[in-house]
Formats: sequence, structure tokens, C-alpha cells
Amino acid sequence: MISKSLFSALFLVSSTLAIQLSDVLQKSRVQLQWKQEATNKFSWNATQELKWSVANAFIDVQTSPDGDVYAIQNISSEMSQPKYHIYMYDITTNVWNLTDPAFQAKAIRFDRLGSKFYLTPENCVLNNQKQTLLCGVSDFEVTVDKKIYGLIDNSGRQQADTLSSSIWKTASNDSSYTYKALAGYKGITLLKDQPILINQDGRVDAQYGSEKLISISAGIDGSLWALLDEINVTDYTVLKWQTVSQKWYKITGVSGVSLSSYNEISVAIVDSKGLLSLSSQVGHQDEAAYVVETAPPTIAPSTTQSQTTIPQTTIAPTTIAPTTNPPTTTVPTTVPPLPIVLSQPSNSILTHSDFKWLQTAVTGKNFTEFSLLFSATKNTKSLAEAVNTILGKSDVFVLMRTNTSVVIGFYYKTAIAQASDNYLSSNNELTALLSVTKQLRFMGITDQNRHFGLFNNNRYILLNDQGGMTFGLNCYVDSTIDMTLGKDRVRQYKNVSGNALYEPNNQLSNNSDINNDFVECQQIEIYQAKQ
Ligand SMILES: *[C@@H]1O[C@H](CO)[C@@H](O)[C@H](O)[C@H]1NC(C)=O
Ligand SMILES: *[C@@H]1O[C@H](CO)[C@@H](O)[C@H](O)[C@H]1NC(C)=O
Ligand SMILES: *[C@@H]1O[C@H](CO)[C@@H](O)[C@H](O)[C@H]1NC(C)=O
Ligand SMILES: *[C@@H]1O[C@H](CO)[C@@H](O)[C@H](O)[C@H]1NC(C)=O
Ligand SMILES: *[C@@H]1O[C@H](CO)[C@@H](O)[C@H](O)[C@H]1NC(C)=O
Ligand SMILES: *[C@@H]1O[C@H](CO)[C@@H](O)[C@H](O)[C@H]1NC(C)=O
Ligand SMILES: *[C@@H]1O[C@H](CO)[C@@H](O)[C@H](O)[C@H]1NC(C)=O
Ligand SMILES: *[C@@H]1O[C@H](CO)[C@@H](O)[C@H](O)[C@H]1NC(C)=O
Ligand SMILES: *[C@@H]1O[C@H](CO)[C@@H](O)[C@H](O)[C@H]1NC(C)=O
Repeated sequence: MISKSLFSALFLVSSTLAIQLSDVLQKSRVQLQWKQEATNKFSWNATQELKWSVANAFIDVQTSPDGDVYAIQNISSEMSQPKYHIYMYDITTNVWNLTDPAFQAKAIRFDRLGSKFYLTPENCVLNNQKQTLLCGVSDFEVTVDKKIYGLIDNSGRQQADTLSSSIWKTASNDSSYTYKALAGYKGITLLKDQPILINQDGRVDAQYGSEKLISISAGIDGSLWALLDEINVTDYTVLKWQTVSQKWYKITGVSGVSLSSYNEISVAIVDSKGLLSLSSQVGHQDEAAYVVETAPPTIAPSTTQSQTTIPQTTIAPTTIAPTTNPPTTTVPTTVPPLPIVLSQPSNSILTHSDFKWLQTAVTGKNFTEFSLLFSATKNTKSLAEAVNTILGKSDVFVLMRTNTSVVIGFYYKTAIAQASDNYLSSNNELTALLSVTKQLRFMGITDQNRHFGLFNNNRYILLNDQGGMTFGLNCYVDSTIDMTLGKDRVRQYKNVSGNALYEPNNQLSNNSDINNDFVECQQIEIYQAKQ
């Protein structure tokens, strides 16, 4: 993992034409494969985890429809006017190239056909040939039918136009362009050539939740990213618009002051220190073979107890917002119904395909949303911190990556009210033991042994008639400790004449020794699921 602080000291180079990235960064650049991924159709079964790495000192960032990344560097000193340089990132050589040392621009923009436009330090919009089209705007966007939406600056060089009016003014030098200068806005992006504006008070259109935003950017595939306006922060949380639920959700792992998105997975962000981060999938993970056949039957025989009727919610089938223009450079995308994952850590142990599996891993459930309650790596957080997050919460998944290289865990339905609730004190309605890695689930079939709660001073336990797991919910490991005081343990049971009896079995634990049912937590994540 590359830390930001490692890089924050390295930069602010203006004299060289190309900034050679450090070796370690080059390596991660190669892994990023921004454009290669961008040309792939995005597949949701690949991991959604985003990886961040820091590149350079910049004030603004823009991605072209070809997936090229451009960034603007602001070189300023107390003695002189700021100088603005445009760099382009070369994926094959992993170098930021200064595009034209003699030319300055505060921003670079593209229409969807890839034509370039610039905003000069004097707030004039230039076309590809660097001819002036108009002056007096602080930002702008250009549609494929050559309409420029400008945001008026305070220089008085433009009269304000309204969004709804049909009047478009003709640009100078190239009359094929027309424009409007809009007042009262501080941010703009075009989604399939339709403007989405951020009002002066920071609020975006009601269609996008009237959220208070700092910056907004639509990718060529119709994906929409933004920075959330928060009080007392210098770097703002990254948001992604979820078309299925029509909601913004937070992306963890990076924050910033300016962003530009290329598509569903590729977004570039500049933070307050002028550092640029690019997102990427960590890697295309192969989906694990679906091995549910080897799991015990998961249909509960009807019993008199605990048969809750579970409402099945249906997620409306969705496509990306309909285009108003026939798409030219856009990739038509259909987004499958997805579980929404809130606050997933950037170093998450789970991939998006894992969540897809978890969505229906519990019999009778079809979850649409997972929201992180707690995460920790080994021996970094207290048990109280972990337990406080689950009190009163139902439909909880506790999942950990173990020293045996699997992600295993459990699900329980019935909330515990207090940290001290003993596991034997109440029956749970629904429980499941899970191996996410192997896609195995062991549902409690009967209500026999169906418990979740405190096991000893530092371990909680989930039990059902198929087995049990004893976990330190905070990922606490002490290899010298004995079992009664607390070790992570995975047991599997078999039905012998109606009784659940312990059976040595390493399907869940993945220990090579079948009789060893101890594992050690390396990293843990706890989620609450919603249907
Ligand atoms: C460039 O940097 C100077 C000095 O920090 C600052 O005053 C100016 O606003 C910056 N320009 C932009 C466009 O951010
Ligand atoms: C960037 O600069 C390097 C070295 O000067 C050159 O080989 C490469 O072609 C340049 N890339 C672009 C996209 O201009
Ligand atoms: C046309 O472009 C030139 C060069 O950028 C500029 O000097 C001139 O002012 C422009 N004409 C008008 C009418 O804006
Ligand atoms: C923001 O910071 C100021 C100064 O530290 C403080 O007075 C104010 O209460 C903070 N506001 C919020 C909402 O945290
Ligand atoms: C994703 O799923 C599709 C079909 O559902 C499959 O063809 C493709 O190989 C999968 N991709 C990965 C990376 O697993
Ligand atoms: C879960 O819900 C989604 C969306 O309605 C649907 O496509 C899927 O088939 C459902 N899965 C199950 C197992 O019911
Ligand atoms: C165990 O087997 C008995 C029959 O031997 C059956 O009645 C009972 O339901 C089974 N229990 C479980 C948990 O499978
Ligand atoms: C299980 O453990 C073996 C080593 O014992 C390891 O190679 C493998 O990756 C682990 N995971 C799975 C899913 O088998
Ligand atoms: C994992 O940890 C458990 C408990 O300390 C230990 O018994 C087991 O041998 C470990 N397995 C591996 C593969 O390191």
C-alpha cells in the first residue's frame, strides 16, 4: 500500500519536461492499466475495490474520452503570478509529460468526440486550435453539437443567460460554436451532453438528491462521481451515484478537492496537497467456482418456531439514464441489479463478486445493501469498539480473513442488546456459517443450538446445528492464549441420531490438518445488511 505521505514531499517539479515517477509508483502504474481497463466493458463481477496511488502536485484533473488523464499544475510564488501547465499521463512509459511548456491553461476540457478546449489564466475559452471562443467564465463544458455552457466569472465581461432560454450566443473566431454564460453556479458536468449544475450554495439538482457538492463529474459511460461538501474538512469524501437506488454512496480510501471520472471504475482525484490519485480495480479476480452442491441442504424444514415470513424485495431492472442524443462515443451499458456497499474500506477483504454471493447466501434473503459497521486488522482495535457497533443491529455479517487464506464468517438475524448478552440466553431466528472464499453456507436447519452472543471475555460465538465459530470481533489474536480464554475457532457438526455432534472437518477452516479447528484472524469486517 502506497502511503500519501511518502509522496507528498517528493514533488513540485517545473523545470523538467517530464516527471519521471519513482520506481515504486511506476510499478503500481503498470498495475493500474487505466486505459486498458477503460476499454474493457466494465464487469461487475470483477472486484469493485478501488486502489489509490499518488502521482503529483496538481490543482485540476481531466480525463479525455479516450481515457487519457490530463492534470494542471499551478506553479506559484509570492513574487510572481501563478503559472499553469498542462501535463498528460503516458500510460506506456509511466511518465507525466508537459504538453507545451510555452502554453498555459487553468483547465482543459473535452467534448465527447475528444476535441480539446482550454481555459486560460485570463478566463477565456479556447478551441483545439487555441483560438479564443469567449472570455469571462470560470469554468465550462462543451457538447458534441458545439454548445458551450460557461459559468460566469465576476469580471463583468459576460451578460448572464438563463439555462431555459433558447438563446445561444455565437462564439468569436469560430461561429460554429454557440454559448451561454450562466450565473449562480459554481460547478458543472455534462451527463450525455445534458448539464448537471452545482448551485452557488453548493446544492446539486433535486434529481441528484440536492446533495451539497464541491465537484461533480460524469464519465463517458454515464457514471457519475462527486465530492461531498462537508464542514471543517480540507479534503472531501468521494461519492458515486448509484443508478439502481438513485442515491449517492460514499467511496472510502481517498478524498480530495477536484475530480474527473472516466467511467464506472476510473476516476482521478486531486487533493488539497495537490496530489493526484487514480482509481483502479485491484485486479480482475476470477470468480470462485460455485460449490453449493457440496453444502448441506439449506431449505429449512417447517418447524413451529422461528418461521418468519421474509419479504422479498424486487430491485427494479435498470439501465443507465436514457440518452437524449444518439450516443457517439459512449458505451451502452446495462447495470445489473447490485448490492450497494456502503463505506467499504479500500483494503477490503471482500470483492464485489463476494457481495453478490452474500446477497443471497442466507436462505430466504435477497439483500440489496451492505453497510460497514466495523473493520480492523489484527490487534489494532478493542473488543468494545467492535461490539458497540453491533448492539441492537439485526442482519449482521461478521467476516474475517484468516491465516488459512480464506474469508470465512457468519450471519445472524437477531440483534444482541448488550455486550454482556450470553450466547445461550436467547435463541436466534436465523444463522448461517459461511466460507465466502469457497462459497459454502451452513444454515441452521432446526432451532437447535441457534445462538449468537458472548462466549468468554474476549470472544463471541455463533452456533447452529451445522457448526460454530468463535471469534474475537475485533480481530484480536494472542497465539499464547488458550482456548478457554479465547482463540478463533471453527467447528462443524454432523447429525447423529438427531444430535448435532462435532465432526472434524476443514471445509470452513481450511486448515490442512483436519483435526485442527483453530484459525487466526488477519483482518475483519462487520456489515449490516438490508433487503
Ligand atoms: C494557484 O496558486 C495560487 C497561490 O497558491 C493561488 O492564489 C491561485 O488561486 C491558484 N490558482 C488556482 C486556479 O487554483
Ligand atoms: C512522453 O515523453 C516520453 C519521453 O520524452 C516520450 O517517449 C513519450 O512518447 C511521450 N508521451 C506522450 C504521450 O507524448
Ligand atoms: C480570435 O482569436 C484571437 C487569438 O486567440 C484573439 O486574439 C481574438 O481576440 C479573437 N477574436 C475575438 C473576436 O474574440
Ligand atoms: C468547525 O471548526 C470550528 C473551528 O475549529 C468550530 O468552531 C466549529 O464548531 C466546527 N464546526 C463543526 C460543524 O464541526
Ligand atoms: C463475469 O461474468 C461473466 C458472465 O456472467 C463471465 O463471462 C466473465 O468471465 C466473468 N468475469 C470475471 C472476471 O469473472
Ligand atoms: C434477488 O433479487 C434480484 C433483483 O430483483 C433478482 O434478480 C435475483 O434473481 C434475486 N435472487 C434470488 C435468489 O431471489
Ligand atoms: C437429524 O436427523 C434426524 C433423524 O435421524 C432428523 O429427525 C433431524 O431433523 C435431523 N436434524 C438435523 C439438524 O438435520
Ligand atoms: C486453503 O489453504 C491452502 C493451503 O493449505 C491454500 O493453498 C489455499 O489457497 C487456501 N484456500 C483455499 C480456498 O483453498
Ligand atoms: C492458523 O492459526 C492457528 C491458530 O493459531 C494454527 O493452529 C494454524 O496452524 C494456523 N494455520 C496456518 C496455515 O498458519
